[in-house]
Amino acid sequence: MLIETNRLLLRSFQVADLERFVAYRSDPDIARYQGWEAPFPVDVARQFIDEMMRQPPAVPGTWYQLAMERRADGLLLGDCAIHFRDDQPRQAEIGFTLARDAQGHGYATEAVLGVLAYLFEALDYHRVAANCDAENARSAHLLERVGMRREAHFVESYWAKGRWTSEYHYAILQREWSDRPAGAHRA
Ligand SMILES: CC(C)(COP(=O)(O)OP(=O)(O)OC[C@H]1O[C@@H](n2cnc3c(N)ncnc32)[C@H](O)[C@@H]1OP(=O)(O)O)[C@@H](O)C(=O)NCCC(=O)NCCS
Repeated sequence: MLIETNRLLLRSFQVADLERFVAYRSDPDIARYQGWEAPFPVDVARQFIDEMMRQPPAVPGTWYQLAMERRADGLLLGDCAIHFRDDQPRQAEIGFTLARDAQGHGYATEAVLGVLAYLFEALDYHRVAANCDAENARSAHLLERVGMRREAHFVESYWAKGRWTSEYHYAILQREWSDRPAGAHRA
């Protein structure tokens, strides 16, 4: 599975990604609103990459993690995850992470636009959703930048990392993707 955008390759993980993957997952700022703790253990990362290398993409009921590589120099910038749902037809959920030194350049926006194009245009998906911690302003901005609609604000709806956490739910439909204005961001 390969998604190409202007500046990025979204590709399968490789063994060579291990060091950089562990480094950005071990950054407390990157882990703050995510399901893992920093530092991220090397053996867990190795097992994760090994599983991703063996797992076929787009299998309903699984999450598939794509490595985000900068085309100019091959640097691993982060990753994008796609949950291919099996409880609903043609629906997916997405997630994304960018190393701190790669933030602020629109790379994550470009990657998410590439993933949305793949899901809506190549796979003919109907709806794509994403959730984020209500305090994760950069993530909420990104989801709004790519044209996703905030559909829900769940207040202190789950316990994570020692606090009651509130959550925004976003989504976009295939027809909304097709009808987005000509000036909207493109991958
Ligand atoms: C969420 C996350 C990916 C957002 O990173 P980001 O750098 O803000 O997102 P982008 O790469 O799309 O960059 C957008 C920023 O670059 C700027 N930018 C520069 N060039 C740009 C371009 N060509 N296109 C779009 N934006 C550009 C934008 O103005 C924006 O900056 P601003 O928010 O100060 O206005 C990042 O904060 C992250 O990985 N956080 C930790 C993991 C996490 O919480 N993930 C989300 C879980 S729900």
